[in-house]
Amino acid sequence: MEKIRVGVIGVGSMGTSHVNYLVEGEIEGAILTALLEQRLEKKEELERCYPGVQIFQDEDLFFQQAEVDAILIATPHYDHPRLAIKAFEHQMHVLTEKPAGVYTKQVRGMNEAAEKSGKVFSIMYNQRTNPLYQKVRDLIQTKELGEIRRINWIMTSWYRSQSYYDSGEWRATWAGEGGGVLINQCPHQLDLWQWMTGMMPAKIRSFCSFGKYRDIEVEDEVTAYAEYENGATAVFITTTAEAAGTNRLEIVGEQGKIVVEHGTLTFWRLRI
Ligand SMILES: NC(=O)c1ccc[n+]([C@@H]2O[C@H](COP(=O)([O-])OP(=O)(O)OC[C@H]3O[C@@H](n4cnc5c(N)ncnc54)[C@H](O)[C@@H]3O)[C@@H](O)[C@H]2O)c1
Repeated sequence: MEKIRVGVIGVGSMGTSHVNYLVEGEIEGAILTALLEQRLEKKEELERCYPGVQIFQDEDLFFQQAEVDAILIATPHYDHPRLAIKAFEHQMHVLTEKPAGVYTKQVRGMNEAAEKSGKVFSIMYNQRTNPLYQKVRDLIQTKELGEIRRINWIMTSWYRSQSYYDSGEWRATWAGEGGGVLINQCPHQLDLWQWMTGMMPAKIRSFCSFGKYRDIEVEDEVTAYAEYENGATAVFITTTAEAAGTNRLEIVGEQGKIVVEHGTLTFWRLRI
């Protein structure tokens, strides 16, 4: 099989992990061929660590000259749709880190560009590969749980210290990150929530606190209440500043109850 040549854009903490598993051959059928990193001081280090890989600092040159079939975007959030659209225009497949973007309009533009290009397009919602949530989805989609009545998710185990927020200038700022826990840590749960249930709330009301526990601009605590067309309700609670944190998902349906907590799924099935 011919290998898919992959270029990684943004070689910071997440980009470096992606680069390393590609280099270590952990991804069957894929080979790392190019890197685009805007920090000039990284160039020498990347050249030394990844011999034979094309290293770019200039975005236009990357899109003109990189020998790649696919790109993996691991930059801060605002750039995800823009870079993905550019890649589709250059006939490249795209895997972008979460979140999809910051603005709905840009994300729609990215989805349309993906559709038009006919290329493979994915977003790194890696929690979808967690068997626990796959099983929850299965119990719901096969109607074993019955019609959903109530969802409660307390997700407070995304602990982030002040030093984490201070580790990058873009972090936890409106201009650099575009939001806080909802856009950086919790997109995984927000994605799973609709993916598992297959339902979109009809109404949602949310209370967010900005920089309540950390010296940051954006939200670090959120409580949201949602209602569905079928009368079901949901409460979603998250913060990055709680220790010990909780990750407890409870879904009640007409035929039983599912609880996921401490890495275990429990299903109570009603016989009558
Ligand atoms: N899937 C997950 O579980 C997971 C975990 C952590 C981070 N992430 C996501 O990964 C992305 C990157 O986060 P991070 O923690 O690695 O950030 P980071 O700040 O450590 O790294 C970002 C890198 O991108 C570079 N960069 C920025 N704009 C660029 C551009 N236009 N072209 C080329 N390089 C550019 C920066 O110089 C930096 O090296 C974010 O979207 C984040 O939400 C995902």
